[in-house]
Amino acid sequence: MSMNAEPINAVEMQHITMRFPGVLANDDITFSVRKGEIHALLGENGAGKTTLMNVLYGLYQPGSGEISVNGNPAKIANPNDAISLGIGMIHQHFMLVPPFTVAENVVLGVEPKAYFFMDTERAISDVEEISKRYGLIVDPGAKVQDISVGIEQRVEILKALYRGAEILILDEPTAVLTPQEVEELFKVMKSLKEEGKTIIFITHKLKEPMATCDRITVLRKGRLIGTVHTEKTDVANLARMMVGRDVCLVVEKPPHPSGEAVMQVQNLEAYNDREVKALQGITLELRKGEILGIAGVEGNGQLELAECMTGLRSPRAGKILVHGKDVTHSSARDFINAGVSHIPEDRQKRGLIQDFSLSENLILGSHFKAPFSHGFRMDYEKVDAYASQLAKTFDIRGTGVHSLVKYLSGGNQQKVIVARELGREPEIIIASQPTRGLDVGAIEFIHETLLAMRKKDKAILLISADLDEVCCLSDRIAVIYEGKIVGERDSQKTTEEELGLLMAGGHA
Ligand SMILES: Nc1ncnc2c1ncn2[C@@H]1O[C@H](COP(=O)(O)OP(=O)(O)OP(=O)(O)O)[C@@H](O)[C@H]1O
Ligand SMILES: [Mg+2]
Repeated sequence: MSMNAEPINAVEMQHITMRFPGVLANDDITFSVRKGEIHALLGENGAGKTTLMNVLYGLYQPGSGEISVNGNPAKIANPNDAISLGIGMIHQHFMLVPPFTVAENVVLGVEPKAYFFMDTERAISDVEEISKRYGLIVDPGAKVQDISVGIEQRVEILKALYRGAEILILDEPTAVLTPQEVEELFKVMKSLKEEGKTIIFITHKLKEPMATCDRITVLRKGRLIGTVHTEKTDVANLARMMVGRDVCLVVEKPPHPSGEAVMQVQNLEAYNDREVKALQGITLELRKGEILGIAGVEGNGQLELAECMTGLRSPRAGKILVHGKDVTHSSARDFINAGVSHIPEDRQKRGLIQDFSLSENLILGSHFKAPFSHGFRMDYEKVDAYASQLAKTFDIRGTGVHSLVKYLSGGNQQKVIVARELGREPEIIIASQPTRGLDVGAIEFIHETLLAMRKKDKAILLISADLDEVCCLSDRIAVIYEGKIVGERDSQKTTEEELGLLMAGGHA
């Protein structure tokens, strides 16, 4: 066999099996990544993508299987072994130290030294150099606690490159990014590829690998379904491989009459955590049987609006009424009691208690009420029965209602929140980025669920950075820009172009 016949494989994983108590997360997986390619690892929530890459990065020891790197058999007992083989991993949840600067975070653990101390100037110039080379623009002196998620991600990539990574694993890097940041990331990936790096890109969004990758490997329920060349496949085929059935990629929204207004927001003003005015006089109303979509580039007040409308943040001025009753300064529990449910955008911080079980998380917010609690006593049988039912309805895949939420895959964690919030049959639903981080099958399900809630005459506020999602689900669309509603449109009578212009602060 001639040397040129087969391209070199940067990574080969053979017959990898990885079992957790009660779950076969990777079932005899064999796949390879060529040197210098961008290779997508695609699969539904819980398919086993992160697990497989954690095995490659030395975080887990597989029950069986072999790995070779650049053609040589490799023993990867821990991340240090992986790093010395030139493998770098950017995790789904970032692991930076917030009070440290960008430069300090990049060089952490491998600092350039001057005598016994860190050579800060050299650290900064090193970071500047790699940052320029790959177009990963950062401010080396900025503190990580003050930078956006998109920049944090760049810091994580720089950190891996600084440690000499030739093979980069990006675990769902786009889940936390705005559409503009996604474009930036794709440019960075292309320039990394041009410099000869190999990239493994985990995602469950179908369009992304089509735009960026050479080949795509699909996993489903722990098994390998196949590897395809991007130019020889399409989105519908990928969806079928991923979910195992045809997926409805367009939502059917039947007309539905809207009713009376049940929640009103009047001239609302609020400050963000950095004491900057984030809402500058927002007025809107939610009506029965209607979905009001909020379109906008992230960071224009959406988070603060959702928090004010659920009792998590106190507005500085303006009013919030539920069924005509003033709830402007009520507590989060009062909002729940008034029939307002909330699907928060940050499930790590707001949505879940990681060290509680699935059951306990599913009744948060209702735990003090019948039928779950009688005075001081919890009725655990009732709790478990309720939780099992919800887990079934919302297809939460894990190892049962007693397993801790932290062991669920990212997407399944999101389903837990949606199940809890919609399971209590609220009158009003404030949904922030309800499908972020979810795969097509789960997105389809959540879209259908929101439309079913609309049919039951619930009032729904849908805040989403995904313009497609806002357009296909909403009846009315309000565009938020710098803390103001800059336009409201009937979804049947507007276009994405018009909304895009409003979102950018222009006039349409
Ligand atoms: N540390 C762990 N302990 C127990 N079970 C785990 C652990 N890590 C993952 N699992 C289980 O293994 C399966 C695969 O999870 P994994 O995180 O690899 O999925 P994924 O494809 O990355 O999903 P997502 O897109 O939701 O992130 C899931 O059923 C998950 O609950
Ligand atoms: Mg994952």
